[in-house]
Amino acid sequence: MKEKQVTMLTTILKPTKQNIRLCAETLKNGDLVGMPTETVYGLAANAFSDQAVANIFVAKNRPQDNPLIVHVHKDYDLLELVSEITPLAKKLLKKFTPGPITMVFKSNGAVSKSVSRGLNTVAIRIPNHKIAQKLLKECNLPIAAPSANLSSRMSATNAQAVLEELSGKLPYILDGGTCQVGIESTVVDVTGDQPIVLRPGKITKEQLLRVANSVDEKTKYVSGEKIASPGVKYKHYSPSIPVYVCPNGRYNEAKNAYQAMLERGLNPVVLGKSGEKRHFGKLNFLSIGNSTKEVAKKLYESLRIAEKHHTGIVLCAVKAEGFGVSVLNRMNKMHSYEL
Ligand code: TXA
Ligand code: MG
Repeated sequence: MKEKQVTMLTTILKPTKQNIRLCAETLKNGDLVGMPTETVYGLAANAFSDQAVANIFVAKNRPQDNPLIVHVHKDYDLLELVSEITPLAKKLLKKFTPGPITMVFKSNGAVSKSVSRGLNTVAIRIPNHKIAQKLLKECNLPIAAPSANLSSRMSATNAQAVLEELSGKLPYILDGGTCQVGIESTVVDVTGDQPIVLRPGKITKEQLLRVANSVDEKTKYVSGEKIASPGVKYKHYSPSIPVYVCPNGRYNEAKNAYQAMLERGLNPVVLGKSGEKRHFGKLNFLSIGNSTKEVAKKLYESLRIAEKHHTGIVLCAVKAEGFGVSVLNRMNKMHSYEL
């Protein structure tokens, strides 16, 4: 497949009926569109087209073995794309979709081979976002969409952030406002009789356990083992400046990291919940909200603000409870600064 490296004017479009139609036509023509979802923005392309899918990999500089999620509208017949919908998949579809969950099915081979990168499965997501649903309905195509960021960077949670990441690489970004969830969907393998979480996300293990008797997890990369989800082995969610991720509640350690950054000539900032500010006196502090839910929603945006005004970040980790487990998963992958 010939890979196109193109430069073009990128425009943010208001989600009017006319603009949604324009974006649907753009997708049908094999070009890329920035698409809002309730988790993060996606870099969308027609999943039937080898060339359109190849363009995603070029635009993001994405590792060649990392498969893409396919997005469909809520009335789309999944049997167009998958060979089997297990009883488990039926239950999870009923309970959690449309919503922030991605389910891995056995593929029937209908989407471009480049989507699944050699796996015999396909990951499907039905986003719960009005504008995403309208766009998916208007084009009535399966839409491959990884997060709309350069590979290894944090995802984009508003249209402006997509522009900052990918300007010149796509014609349109459909503006659907700020994403409500703020971190990526839960990826779950539903090919067997028990769900296997491949990437933690908004739908927690506790929520899955209300539908399934047991839940397995394969979210870590063990060198040499067969990888369930190739994405887990790559560097992810990283700002362009050093980040020290401090375990929850260890404020002395956070202050030491801040001090070490200062001594090495950096201009650091602490990122934490509003209630944590009091532990840091006069140190630079940027609040990322009050609750874990708010931290998730504002995390990537706060990192983007921090990298514009500072040269180092001390990030206060959330507690590993409920949805916090998923937020912490992203935070731990950002850690790049050693004391
Ligand atoms: O919330 C989200 O999931 C966002 C929005 C745009 O929908 N998308 C997203 O895509 O986060 P991306 O490409 O950044 O992450 C997709 C993850 C990767 O870790 C990839 O390895 C995994 O899903 N994945 C995709 N297809 C898979 C498959 N067939 N089997 C296992 N893992 C798969
Ligand atoms: Mg991503």
